Amino acid sequence: MKLSRILLLLLIIILAVDLALTPTPAIGSTEDPRVAQSRELIAAFGSELKYELQKAMGSGGPAAAVKVCRDRSPQIASKLSRKSGASVGRTSLRFRNPGNAPEPWQAEQLRAFDQLAETTPAEQPLEAVQAIDGELRYMRAIRTEPLCLVCHGSAVSPDVARSLRADYPHDRATGYAQGQVRGAFRVVWPAKGSSEDSSAGSSE
Ligand code: HEC
Repeated sequence: MKLSRILLLLLIIILAVDLALTPTPAIGSTEDPRVAQSRELIAAFGSELKYELQKAMGSGGPAAAVKVCRDRSPQIASKLSRKSGASVGRTSLRFRNPGNAPEPWQAEQLRAFDQLAETTPAEQPLEAVQAIDGELRYMRAIRTEPLCLVCHGSAVSPDVARSLRADYPHDRATGYAQGQVRGAFRVVWPAKGSSEDSSAGSSE
């Protein structure tokens, strides 16, 4: 009991020092509880999406799975956002869906991930935490696996290419190799006390 209080206090001190010292993106340096919550949200997002993707590929093949990814990724993202109060999504420097285009700070972090990925084994998570004026920003790199190359690789089959062209005429998300950073999950927590997004659609 006492020990856990001391640990909590230490954590708070570390957190305070961390926040004061790291105004720029820091890799996993903040132990704000929202960091752990972000990791959970991302884990849920990633596994639900992968499950849907594999199911769709098994039943209708990859060209049909493109539609499932198109429909399900934004749905899962908004479900998790509603549930948590954070804004959950995916982004990429070479995005497929223009709705996933990175904001400037996200683009900067994605470029940092690209560099880090060159020297970091693919199994090792690459994440970044940024705290600005009470807002907490979390990003976690998504590395390309063999499964992903079916729709993001450099030898995409003609029927997948056709399916992609129909929905994403300006697609920039092919030509990846295994292990490269395809993009990142992002979770943005509004500053505590900023009431805008707790009004659950009562305005507008
Ligand atoms: C069946 C085809 C397909 C497969 C396989 C696939 N994706 Fe995608 N991916 C898509 C589509 C379609 C989108 C656009 C979704 C949208 O409209 O939000 C997308 C979007 C993304 C995005 C969001 C950024 C962007 O480009 O818009 C990321 C990140 C991503 N995919 C990563 C992966 C990873 C990692 C894998 C492997 C685990 C993977 N994808 C496998 C079709 C696929």
